[in-house]
Amino acid sequence: MKQPTAIDHKAVLATHKASVPRYTSYPTAPQFQAGAGPALMDRMLRDLPAGDPVSVYIHIPFCDRLCWFCGCHTRHTLKYAPIKGYLAYLSQEIRLLSQRLPVRPRLKSLHLGGGSPSLLKQQDMADLRADLAEVFQFEPDTEISIEIDPSDANDEMYDGLLALGVTRASIGVQDFHPDVQAAINRPQSFEQTQKVVQRLRQIGIGSINVDALYGLPLQSTDRLRDTLSKCIALEADRMALFGYAHIPWFKKHQRLINEADLPDNLMRFEQAEMAGHYLQDAGYHAIGIDHFAKPHDALSLAAQSGNLHRNFQGYTTDNCKTLFGLGASSIGRFEGGYVQNLVATGQYQDCVANGRLPTDKGVELSLDDKIRAHIIERLMCDFRICFDTLEQRFSGRQEKSLLQGYRQEATKLAAQDQFGLCQFSDNMLSIPREARAFTRIVASGFDAYYHRETAQYSKAV
Ligand SMILES: C[S@@+](CC[C@H](N)C(=O)[O-])C[C@H]1O[C@@H](n2cnc3c(N)ncnc32)[C@H](O)[C@@H]1O
Ligand code: SF4
Repeated sequence: MKQPTAIDHKAVLATHKASVPRYTSYPTAPQFQAGAGPALMDRMLRDLPAGDPVSVYIHIPFCDRLCWFCGCHTRHTLKYAPIKGYLAYLSQEIRLLSQRLPVRPRLKSLHLGGGSPSLLKQQDMADLRADLAEVFQFEPDTEISIEIDPSDANDEMYDGLLALGVTRASIGVQDFHPDVQAAINRPQSFEQTQKVVQRLRQIGIGSINVDALYGLPLQSTDRLRDTLSKCIALEADRMALFGYAHIPWFKKHQRLINEADLPDNLMRFEQAEMAGHYLQDAGYHAIGIDHFAKPHDALSLAAQSGNLHRNFQGYTTDNCKTLFGLGASSIGRFEGGYVQNLVATGQYQDCVANGRLPTDKGVELSLDDKIRAHIIERLMCDFRICFDTLEQRFSGRQEKSLLQGYRQEATKLAAQDQFGLCQFSDNMLSIPREARAFTRIVASGFDAYYHRETAQYSKAV
């Protein structure tokens, strides 16, 4: 077994310049095939395991500001009419789904993301809940979470959260330094954010997450530290610290960001390292590669017991086999594959208006995909994959022979690794603590579709 040594992170960054997926799914979104979704959706609905709880993700692709760094699927509008119009189609999509569902499944978790679902008015939140309740059974412990842009906050928003029954709120911060905020077109004071957090607590929302970013233009480790100290003062239960993904070939408005102001790979690495230490010193547990949670938080407990999962929102405690994605661009997941709704809002609305579910892309999982997906998810969540445990989980004849291949891949990966990013011993591939920042690089070793030369993802760190 290799002895733990300090990682020469400069050498790793110099060697691994290519972008790497974030592995919020495997296969990753570029592998989804246009037009393959409807047939898969049919199967998903037909084979829905009776009695199993399900999760639902709803996408609201509207914002009343357009932050230049934003990589989300959203559209800027200062009027409510387009949002109101969209909600009518969303309601219709829910009705179409209900006609196809053989049962009324229990709802384990509901997440509203965007865009800024915090723009929805109280009556629309109440109507949305009523529509969903026709199709899914809300339970007393159904987790209902929502992404909030603090600049949307007003009395109506809080009433709306109560009407929907929100139990967990995720607030976008990004960075508090005025120069950084100017460079990304996102003014937002600490005081404004703090008021929102206090009010959310007052109305009984028990769990609060804050999103911050590193790698932003004009950001330095000092400025990031200051932002983090303010986030800690907000007493968030969880924090997500994402590396800014600069993908201007895909998100044209990111061209408004001055690339000369962006920290280089080494600075990004130093920011992420500093942030990890700083938040852990403040009492947060590190969860996976980019989340932090207070010890009492369900994410911390799940990470300790090996029950952490990864989905399109990042790390989660949600272990449902089935996730329905509603709204333009939403992705659904079931045991046999992924399906994605039409991305363009106009096309999504036209399809629903014609009485068809708006599923477009899809990918069916082969047995090889399923096992690789499991290996990658465990590496991203636990930083190790144990082949004894894998053999118990995948014990069929074909599975066993595939596992031999993955074990060989794992031993080869460790043998060829010149930087100490992973090691193989006791039938287990593990990523040492000091190499966790490079977990995506190790995980990409099991990605059968990943081609380093042509990859167009975000930076590896
Ligand atoms: C839908 S937004 C959050 C809710 C709300 N719209 C807001 O901005 O406050 C989801 C999160 O994605 C993250 N995000 C957006 N664009 C990103 C990018 N280019 N790279 C990394 N993270 C990004 C941000 O941290 C953001 O808070
Ligand atoms: S970061 Fe949030 S508010 Fe800003 S454009 Fe993206 S989704 Fe909208």
